[in-house]
Formats: sequence, C-alpha cells, structure tokens
Amino acid sequence: MNKLRFVRVNFIISLEKLYFCGSLGVIMNNEMSVREMLEWYLAAGVDETLGEVPFGFAEEEPVIRELPKREPPAAAAPYRQATTELAQATQDACRNARDLCLSIDNLDKLREAVENFEGCSLKLTAAHTVFSDGNPQARIVLIGEAPGADEDRIGRPFVGRSGQLLDKMLKAAGLDRTSCYITNVLPWRPPGNRTPTDAEIAVCLPFLKRQIDLIAPDYIFLLGGSAANALLENAETISRMRGRWMEYKTTAGKNVKVLASFHPAYLLRNAGQKAKAWSDLLRLVKDYRAADGDNG
Ligand code: URA
Repeated sequence: MNKLRFVRVNFIISLEKLYFCGSLGVIMNNEMSVREMLEWYLAAGVDETLGEVPFGFAEEEPVIRELPKREPPAAAAPYRQATTELAQATQDACRNARDLCLSIDNLDKLREAVENFEGCSLKLTAAHTVFSDGNPQARIVLIGEAPGADEDRIGRPFVGRSGQLLDKMLKAAGLDRTSCYITNVLPWRPPGNRTPTDAEIAVCLPFLKRQIDLIAPDYIFLLGGSAANALLENAETISRMRGRWMEYKTTAGKNVKVLASFHPAYLLRNAGQKAKAWSDLLRLVKDYRAADGDNG
C-alpha cells in the first residue's frame, strides 16, 4: 500500500546569483525512487543540499500551535481622555473669561476680575498677578509676553533687566511710564519662564483685549513675536512683522495702529538687533507726534 509521510526539506535555491534558504514541508510518497525524488526536488527549484545527512524528518503531523488570544484594546486610552478634558477645561475657561469681560466697564474692575480669576493654572505658581503699569489715559500701549521672576516678585510689568532696557529706550524716544501704558499677554509668570502654552494664552487673551477696549489707544507697540502672534492671532515671525504698520480693531470698532518689534530680553542677548528695535520705536513715536501736532 502506498504510504504517505510528511517530510521537512531544507533547501537553498539559487536564482540569478541570489541564494534563498528555506524549509519546505512536503508530503512524500514512500514508494518514490531516489531518482524520482531528486527530479522532484529539481523541479521544485532545489539545486544544493545543506548537508550529507537528511534531517528534520517528522513522523507526525506538525503540531498546529494555537495563536495567543489578543486582549481587546482598552476601552478608552486614559491620556486621550485627559486631553479631551483639558481641551474642554480650556474652552470653559476661555468662555468664562470672555463672559466676565462683557460686564466690566473700567480698568479697576478688570484688574480685580483678573486677580480673582481661577481659570488659568499659572496663577497657582505665581507670587503676584501682574496686571499693568503706566498711564491708562495714554495713547500708546506696550504689550509684552508674560512677567518674569522680578515682575512676579514685585507685581509690576517690565521691572527686571529687560524692563530697564525698555525704560531707556522709552526715555531716549521722549516717553516714559506716564506717557504710555504697559501690560502683558499673560498676567502670571509661567514657571521657570517657560514659553506659555496656546491654552494659557487663549484663556488670558480676553482680559488683554478688554484692557485695550477700555483704554482705546491710538497705538500698540508689541514687544516680541509671542505678544504679536497672540494679539494679531497669526503665526508670523517677528522678523517678518517688524518694521511695518499693522492694525488691530477694538470691540467697539476702533482701528489701532500697531507696530511689532524685538522683545527687550532678545535685544539683551542680541545687541546687534537694537538698531532695528530703536528704529521701530522711533517710527511709532514720530507718527504719534505728527498725528496730534505734538503729543509730548
Ligand atoms: N518680559 C515680558 O514680556 N514682560 C515683562 O513684564 C517682563 C519681561
């Protein structure tokens, strides 16, 4: 009787100088002659043996191992849920800030609202709320990014090294803190002076916009790319924005003339750019004086 058996054949096939090693499970007929077997190998493309002694003969059928069962994916990845919750919290805080601002009609109340606002976690790590400095009747508003360590300690914007440089620039241009109003996009210092997140900026932006509405200045001087991106809601680099007039519309529809320039902290590190910042400030002051005969 013809007996069939399962045989594993190890082989090397050479095809166009490429060698493929493999292992083939075949059903062999016990009554095949050696010649027939060799012919069968050749027909299958086998042209080299791996050793003199055949190996790997199996008496039994190969055991088919069961694949390990796959665990179903976790219902909801926890980090996703956290992200969604954070996004929702940010949206809620933005809405709260905007709603609060709607009913605020003077700067003192706005300062109080910011000091009592609980929707931005930066407040938890800050020593002070840094609201503003200068003259609320001024026609020029200067806006930086966020308080640093000195500002956080003292509670006034631009009092550290970059503030001192700013004061020198203002003085040289015939201005000071009585002829302009100074504030920041964020009223709280990001820990370690890290870059504020988009969510932190979005939550605090309604307060900045309300300040501008209440002051209704003629000019805004934006200190650094981050402040410019936040207020103008764009993603331009400061190098591309500086030196050209831009515009900001208040809620009441007033068009405010805007210039952006390098942040004083950047100028402290890159003295070579001071001339450009200086020419930006002079440009603004020249226009301001020309617009109203002589404001100063
Ligand atoms: N940098 C800012 O942007 N604002 C400050 O008040 C101080 C440093």
